[in-house]
Amino acid sequence: MCGIVGYVGRSMDDTALDVVMEGLARLEYRGYDSAGVALVTEDGVETAKRAGKLENLRSELSAHPLAVARTGIGHTRWATHGGPTDGNAHPHRGGEGGRLALIHNGIIENFHALKKELEAAGAEFESETDTEVAAQLVGREYDRLGDLTEAMRVVVGRLEGAFTLLAVHADSPGVVVGARRNSPLVVGLGDGENFLGSDVAAFIGHTRHAVELGQDQIVTITPDGHTVIGFDGSPAQGKGYEVTWDASAAEKGGYDTFMEKEIHEQPHAVGDTLLGRTKDDGELVLDELRISEDRLRQVDRITVVACGTAAYAGMVAKYAIEHWTRIPVEVSLAHEFRYCDPIVDDRTLVVSISQSGETMDTLMAVKHATELGALTLSICNTHGSTIPRESDAVLYTHAGPEIAVASTKAFLAQITACYVLGLYLAQLRGETYADDAKAVMNELREMPDKVEDLLGRMGRVIEMAEFMADSRAVLFLGRHVGFPVAMEGALKLKELAYIHAEGFAAGELKHGPIALIEPGQPVFVVVPSPDTPHELHKKVVSNIQEIRARGARTIVIAHDGDDDVLPFASEVIRIPQCPPMLAPLLAVVPLQVFALHLATAKGLDVDQPRNLAKSVTVE
Ligand code: F6R
Repeated sequence: MCGIVGYVGRSMDDTALDVVMEGLARLEYRGYDSAGVALVTEDGVETAKRAGKLENLRSELSAHPLAVARTGIGHTRWATHGGPTDGNAHPHRGGEGGRLALIHNGIIENFHALKKELEAAGAEFESETDTEVAAQLVGREYDRLGDLTEAMRVVVGRLEGAFTLLAVHADSPGVVVGARRNSPLVVGLGDGENFLGSDVAAFIGHTRHAVELGQDQIVTITPDGHTVIGFDGSPAQGKGYEVTWDASAAEKGGYDTFMEKEIHEQPHAVGDTLLGRTKDDGELVLDELRISEDRLRQVDRITVVACGTAAYAGMVAKYAIEHWTRIPVEVSLAHEFRYCDPIVDDRTLVVSISQSGETMDTLMAVKHATELGALTLSICNTHGSTIPRESDAVLYTHAGPEIAVASTKAFLAQITACYVLGLYLAQLRGETYADDAKAVMNELREMPDKVEDLLGRMGRVIEMAEFMADSRAVLFLGRHVGFPVAMEGALKLKELAYIHAEGFAAGELKHGPIALIEPGQPVFVVVPSPDTPHELHKKVVSNIQEIRARGARTIVIAHDGDDDVLPFASEVIRIPQCPPMLAPLLAVVPLQVFALHLATAKGLDVDQPRNLAKSVTVE
């Protein structure tokens, strides 16, 4: 939530503005209800900001260009305190003559008290934001101390909540100071220029050398280098790493939207997440886990914590891991976890799943689990992000950068990583199904080709999406691992097309939701493979019959060759045959494509749906 960019270079020209605007364009997925920049020019600090998408700021900058500068900061906002107006857009000013400019991601929880204190001292505020309080405080401290880093240090000690702050001052050209607590900030190291960003996408067009900052740290960048200190003033060091993807991975590559591109990258997301997980003899090795095998053998309960799409990946994990390891798995929405008095001890493995690695609800759940003595493992797509750092262990998914707000390829990669984890635990513990691990890994390796094959068959799904653009409500049914797929199909439609959509466990229908069925009601049904045990396939076919008999328009997702569904299906979407447990990797794809094209047919912005943002870094 909120994208942040900072830049310092040597040349006094348009570079600072260009770099900041380019970074903001790459970070716009993090928030897009207003945007702004501040440049340190020869005349002081100049700012421009506009409500609405980045395009509005671009128009403002062409209408009223700023002077050249070698230092700049930029912000794209997802509003928390104060609506998305020009006045609430960042940067905010502080200090004598407003010579300091500051941007912020997060929430300053004690801002009311601090604001009162500032008002009592004569300060006036121009916005409704919590950010302006920080700007005024840092500005005042700068006026007192004459040092931007020290001013920031004094102020962060007074702030409660989660925040990344970046500040520049007219009297400190060539310096940007950043601070982070529970909110992301990375440093990019260039040659005679340095960068700050909410994530590496901010500067990937310029450098792949990045430095990860720790919790409660302050970084100062100049053209010649960077220094890091803790909030207590002690010297500190970030952890350097090389970004393994380049700028093209964060561009649309010929697709109309990032979401479409990312849907098409799914075969790679699955394939790359499987890479390097086995030895030549097929034994699974998870070197990056950093937890001893003995400790993992002692685990007697697993709790998955995640939000949204990632939580649906967790629901798939429950079916797979319980089946393969016989360890009980519970899935808890991360924002509920802390408040349900969870039963967790040192034999519990708390698995967090997060694309961004920055979701505040999930981060807080991980911290709570650590306080309770649990072992924590993060399944994450973003190197250097906070959740893996706060966890005992990490299993990275390799989906590449996900820019579209609606998660697609990260979901498939998360499910894949959960399978790998489940199989690894089964192998490690020598449980009933350990021998199957190698066979399942081989089946998993066939999944990228199957996803590719499926993506080539989406013509009818796209047609359906176009002629169903006026639908007012769509239902999704599934059972077993098809249940989370149904939930995910409904979520995609809600968030992209703003259509009321609900996902149900198909067996639950007759306990209430069947009352929603009326003639013409579209219902997607995710049908399990006919090979699924306990005659589940037959039961779902009966569920289709029941709703068809009440007039529903049944859109059935069934495996190739499953003709039992034909008499009851208004439409059949075929997916390649695969083992029942792995089917979510396929069954969700038509639902993603359907939501994408229905939203597009409605003329909506699929990459940046209303009210949403990627990386929800507030609770
Ligand atoms: C939906 C979506 C969200 C995220 C959720 C968790 O398309 O993207 O529901 O899955 O906000 O985000 P991460 O995975 O970054 O923790």
